[in-house]
Amino acid sequence: MSRGVIIQASSRNNGDTHKMVSVLQEHTGYDIINLNKKNIGHFDYEFKNAQDDFKALFIEITDKYETIVFATPIYWYTMSGLLKVFLDRISDFLYREKDIGRRLREMRMAVLSCSNEVSVFDGFLMPFEKSAEYLGMEYLGHIHTCVENDTISKEMELMIKEFANKRILAHV
Ligand SMILES: Cc1cc2nc3c(=O)[nH]c(=O)nc-3n(C[C@H](O)[C@H](O)[C@H](O)COP(=O)(O)O)c2cc1C
Repeated sequence: MSRGVIIQASSRNNGDTHKMVSVLQEHTGYDIINLNKKNIGHFDYEFKNAQDDFKALFIEITDKYETIVFATPIYWYTMSGLLKVFLDRISDFLYREKDIGRRLREMRMAVLSCSNEVSVFDGFLMPFEKSAEYLGMEYLGHIHTCVENDTISKEMELMIKEFANKRILAHV
């Protein structure tokens, strides 16, 4: 069975995105990494923050897992800052220790977004699709989830289960 990880990129540990991540975790059995609990600095051309949590985390992810599901709330029409910084820092492994960066070529990417709106607008997915293409990752697809009145509807739970089965686990 493929090993996968859900990278939770919300500024709330137990917020809306986490509710959706919990459902996805239940149906995939994937591990969860909470970026909000990591110390990961912005990309730096001089690699001044090479000692923060990113390097060890990235090595662990590319060593242990075959599939990454990025789980992000929608903040200002795009992915969260936490996730953008994580993606920026992948560049560390494109400049240096490229053999570790190239491990992504064997990996798959999927995306879960979360907001209080029922759909996402055109363009939201472009950075993920293009990044997967650039990094040589197989792009499995996207699900948008919506929290209304702090709850997940039964329909939403079913949609997440179907996404897990058809888009994530089916490609293993
Ligand atoms: C800084 C910030 C920016 C937001 N921007 C948007 C937005 O552009 N579009 C939208 O639909 N919702 C936006 N929201 C609402 C969140 O997407 C929504 O409340 C989401 O469910 C929060 O998930 P979380 O609990 O994991 O943070 C924003 C919320 C915050 C805190």
